[in-house]
Amino acid sequence: MPDPLDTAATILRAGGLVGMPTETVYGLAADATNAEAVLGIFIAKGRPTFDPLIVHVADPEGAWAVAESTPRARLLAAACWPGPLTLVLRRRATIPDVVTSGLETVGVRCPDHPVARELIRRAGRPLAAPSANPFGFISPTTAAHVRDQLGDRVGAILDGGPCAIGIESTVLLVDPQPVILRPGGLTRERLEEILGEPVAVANAQARAASIALPAPGLLASHYAPRTPLRLLDEHEPWPTDPRIGRLALCGPVPAGGPTELLSQSGDLAEAARTLFASLRRLDASGATDLVARLVPAIGLGLGINDRLRRAAGLG
Ligand code: TXA
Ligand code: MG
Repeated sequence: MPDPLDTAATILRAGGLVGMPTETVYGLAADATNAEAVLGIFIAKGRPTFDPLIVHVADPEGAWAVAESTPRARLLAAACWPGPLTLVLRRRATIPDVVTSGLETVGVRCPDHPVARELIRRAGRPLAAPSANPFGFISPTTAAHVRDQLGDRVGAILDGGPCAIGIESTVLLVDPQPVILRPGGLTRERLEEILGEPVAVANAQARAASIALPAPGLLASHYAPRTPLRLLDEHEPWPTDPRIGRLALCGPVPAGGPTELLSQSGDLAEAARTLFASLRRLDASGATDLVARLVPAIGLGLGINDRLRRAAGLG
């Protein structure tokens, strides 16, 4: 039996696609230096080409080969990589336009998963990879999620077990001032501690502007189940109609329709880990509608709430 990692690396070098486990979510990887291969990612996902991809590297040296380093970038790379942080930096010419949607910047990250890092090393090149889900749908946190939705469109899927973090990386515009473009697996609090300065969080409008979206609101619905999802207002009671599925951080939730509690103990790390699989279960439960309550907006709660808002189409 050939080593699945070798097979996957060969597929990548030949311009094919591979489902790749990372600590955040599973990625759909292609050779970032091969424009045609990268175009294949957009086609497989049904993703518009104006939404740029993240380039995955094995180490900071790999990152500085595709992006220009700055003092802040070096500090963050040393403190946070490998890990769930994507740095948006000025790009170098080694990366084709299709990866960055023609932007002058590129998002780079060094994933903290042994299979991902070994795959990058064996492929011998940086790997462009968005989350391995059809565009707009819930991100995959197991190999089975990837197989179910994109199995017929990839050359191979590597199974690295369930993702330890469960929501995507934090995307940070590094300079001239640090701004979180997408809250995720690395908290704002931790970034501020490392940098010793305030870190802003972009609103939906600023986020759209960062990738020069042709029309505002175009990416509002994302991470979304097929069943309509609505967020409950702060004091709004839980619906008890058995046809309505409910999602909450922890109980109590009165008897009613299918219910997913993200963490019995209210732990936000556990909640992040279980979020997407819980949404998938609710989506498959037969419920006609779904409701969710936001979690405390601290630490990983920022990323969880961002995914819930966008799953509800609220940008
Ligand atoms: O955890 C993750 O980040 C996962 C795993 C596979 O690494 N990847 C991921 O990729 O979530 P994707 O394509 O689903 O999300 C990438 C996000 C998008 O919102 C995109 O707009 C933003 O990063 N992005 C990428 N390059 C950018 C750039 N140059 N400027 C601004 N935003 C950028
Ligand atoms: Mg995604």
